[in-house]
Amino acid sequence: MPEGLFPPRPEDCVRLAAIDAETNPSPWSADAFRESLARSRGLTVRDDSGTVLGFVVYTSVAGACEILELAVTVPARQRGLGRKLLEAAIEDAVSEGARRCILEVRESNTAARALYAGAGFLVDGRRKAYYRTAEGREDALLMSCDL
Ligand SMILES: CC(C)(COP(=O)(O)OP(=O)(O)OC[C@H]1O[C@@H](n2cnc3c(N)ncnc32)[C@H](O)[C@@H]1OP(=O)(O)O)[C@@H](O)C(=O)NCCC(=O)NCCS
Repeated sequence: MPEGLFPPRPEDCVRLAAIDAETNPSPWSADAFRESLARSRGLTVRDDSGTVLGFVVYTSVAGACEILELAVTVPARQRGLGRKLLEAAIEDAVSEGARRCILEVRESNTAARALYAGAGFLVDGRRKAYYRTAEGREDALLMSCDL
């Protein structure tokens, strides 16, 4: 386990849902986190008092890592935590045999797209009108990175 990162505990799921709801227009519920983490892998980053500041949920199956959810609470953003979570998830997936990482991101999500591009991800597909927005729908960009 990378330093400063911890596996999520079932009792963290309410906090994970609250962080997700801060800015995700289609946030997961606490139950959705519980169900996903029962089947997937996860990491959290916490402050000194143990409060979760950010998390990543991912899978590592048949040589491919998929990033399902990644978020950092608003006051803790732009301090390197998102990159740390992404890199740690990828490192763990590589140790499980992953050779490729894939994810989907809203086209309008410039912060996440910059994070992924900086980590070596390239856009290699698009799902038209995949996500709901307040005004209608927006495309999902499919991004991938060879590991
Ligand atoms: C995307 C997110 C996880 C980034 O977390 P973070 O801790 O703020 O990111 P970091 O501080 O590690 O920054 C890493 C890189 O991301 C990019 N980035 C982060 N915030 C950015 C912003 N507001 N605008 C543009 N680029 C940004 C930069 O490339 C940055 O690298 P740099 O510092 O060398 O310029 C965070 O903004 C977030 O939780 N957003 C809401 C949830 C979300 O969109 N998740 C992704 C779903 S696919």
